[in-house]
Amino acid sequence: MRNRQVKLKQYPEGMPRPGDFELVTAQAPVPAEGHVLCRTRYLSLDPYMRSQIAGRHISGTIAPGDLMRGESVGEVVTSENPGFEPGQLVRGFGGWQEYFALPGDALSPVSSQLSHPSWALSLLGMTGLTAWAGMVWQANVKPGDRVLIPAVTGGVGSAAAQFCTLHGAEVVGTAGSDEKCLFAKKELGAEACINRKSGGLATQLDDAFPEGIDVYFDLVGGELLTLASERLALNARVVLAGLMSEYNQAERAAGPPPGFWIRARAIVYGLVVYDFEARREEFIQACLPHIAAGRLSQREDVAEGIEATSEAFCRLMRGENFGKAIVAM
Ligand SMILES: NC(=O)c1ccc[n+]([C@@H]2O[C@H](COP(=O)([O-])OP(=O)(O)OC[C@H]3O[C@@H](n4cnc5c(N)ncnc54)[C@H](OP(=O)(O)O)[C@@H]3O)[C@@H](O)[C@H]2O)c1
Repeated sequence: MRNRQVKLKQYPEGMPRPGDFELVTAQAPVPAEGHVLCRTRYLSLDPYMRSQIAGRHISGTIAPGDLMRGESVGEVVTSENPGFEPGQLVRGFGGWQEYFALPGDALSPVSSQLSHPSWALSLLGMTGLTAWAGMVWQANVKPGDRVLIPAVTGGVGSAAAQFCTLHGAEVVGTAGSDEKCLFAKKELGAEACINRKSGGLATQLDDAFPEGIDVYFDLVGGELLTLASERLALNARVVLAGLMSEYNQAERAAGPPPGFWIRARAIVYGLVVYDFEARREEFIQACLPHIAAGRLSQREDVAEGIEATSEAFCRLMRGENFGKAIVAM
């Protein structure tokens, strides 16, 4: 059976381009004993992949010639494992390819209660778990908190905004266009949203947070981390989770002066989602009733087919995605 795959062709210089990747054709794997052969249905595209290519990610590196790695939802084709049967939907690190084979213990069934199976990669997947871990378990958001969330219509940001609203906090987002800001206010429960490209970011933050920021979920680093740190309320919580403004740069940017955090008596958390894997089911069970009641939803930015994967990843790294970046096969 033909298995089209996307491999890294060469290291990108700065912003990745589709030509940095190549589409190759291989044979679909034959599952060994205990393994399961799956056809990829949905593939998650994530900024950490850029860090893997740059050799800066804790989950390992990707070099030219390597298959691009990533999490996917697959449909079981044949199973050499008694725990799985053909037709079942599963989640696992299948990579950027049409078919993958993994041992049963590397796969998790996708909840049959989930009306959108791709949400196992977004709202109830890694990005959702990151948002829940950061806002609920670390920052412990509560009524009265005023929370700043960048990239608020993206994978982590859109989940975080909804989780904060569910917990009674007030959300101010930032996003890269007026259209995204409108969506954040209408669909994600944000009280306000700042178009980060409209200029005057510092003044707009002053207006949005006259009494300071209680919780800042940093997904981007760079200028916004410094501006937010300068405007923290007393006893603020800062969750450091991502460096979207820096992934395509060779040099790391300077951070905010620690004095901003000292003055606010802030608690600063570093967040690595893998640390919360053991609590994933607790998170999913907490969210399912809210999904069923229509209180939680997920906008996805969906590309179609394996041949669209490289360009969709480049769009994500250019910040052009509107919703969680997904490839539907
Ligand atoms: N710590 C962890 O365990 C963990 C786990 C998952 C994700 N993350 C991090 O969370 C962040 C968001 O990930 P995601 O998958 O949800 O991606 P995403 O938010 O869906 O996509 C990235 C968004 O970042 C914004 N952006 C792009 N370039 C930017 C720049 N130079 N300055 C400011 N914003 C920029 C863009 O939104 P706008 O143009 O609308 O602003 C873009 O849509 C990433 O930094 C990622 O690495 C961390």
